[in-house]
Amino acid sequence: MLCHLGDETLTIHAPAKLNLFLEVLGRRADGFHELETLMVSVGLYDTLRLRHTTSEHIELTNSGIGTSGAGQMSEIPEGRTNLVVRAAELLREATGTSAGARVSLHKRIPAAAGMAGGSSDAAAALLGFNQLWRLGLAHAELHELAARLGSDVPFFLSSSSAAICRGRGERIEPVHWPTRLYFVVVRPATGLSTAEVFQNCRPQEERRSVEALATMLAKGDLGQAGQQLHNRLLEPALRLNEDVNRLRRTFAKLPVLGHMMSGSGTSYFGICAHRKHARTVAARLHATRIGSVFTVESRP
Ligand code: C5P
Repeated sequence: MLCHLGDETLTIHAPAKLNLFLEVLGRRADGFHELETLMVSVGLYDTLRLRHTTSEHIELTNSGIGTSGAGQMSEIPEGRTNLVVRAAELLREATGTSAGARVSLHKRIPAAAGMAGGSSDAAAALLGFNQLWRLGLAHAELHELAARLGSDVPFFLSSSSAAICRGRGERIEPVHWPTRLYFVVVRPATGLSTAEVFQNCRPQEERRSVEALATMLAKGDLGQAGQQLHNRLLEPALRLNEDVNRLRRTFAKLPVLGHMMSGSGTSYFGICAHRKHARTVAARLHATRIGSVFTVESRP
């Protein structure tokens, strides 16, 4: 999360994530699923700008992809349904402040794509309002609020750009690698609902562990790491969405080190050896008109 305070405006760049590994360990009594997942934050950012106002309201304006009038999709929640506003309200409840703010949110991370754009925005809002309103909440308190907002939100509060996340996703174990990772990512025209994908997932007796992948990444052996990518949510996503099927077939024919769906989909990524390799693969994907194509890198 990159923060910058200037002229009364706090600017925060909220990154996207990719899941290199996601195993569903079982269904819990609270309806959520127990997970083991390896998440990497990548250099594709939404931008939040927070400003003080004299009113007690949180005024949110959205721009960028997925917002009304901005092309193919109109999927970014507006007003109180947006996690940014919910984060502000949760902080007001927790601290008793009645401060208001004007928030502009510029979206670049595709929605309903398994890249946690909304969760990252929520984490950015928690960090940003804590600073703008001088609330002084400690990391542990923000972490608790983050987990209430969503399973992926706590990951973005951590200063680490990669982590193995367990529980619902809120138990974070930071990991570090010697090498930067290069990805090509495609978000097809359609999205998937996280809740629906989890509902259609059948946890398996035979579970995979993240250890093999973590070891390969620690060694910087990307060729082997590419073969260890795993996502238990892929199978239900393939049943629910034809675009994910097309992406999988397309990536299988491309010269990438490995490929997988991120989170609950629908975005699908390939690991590349270096930046130029990612750009070459992206150009081939562009030509197929299979969706919006991005090249992204893991963050240092
Ligand atoms: O936590 P979040 O709001 O992002 O989750 C969205 C939905 O995804 C949940 O309502 C739940 O249906 C499903 N989910 C789950 N197990 C998880 C995370 C999410 O079943 N660990």
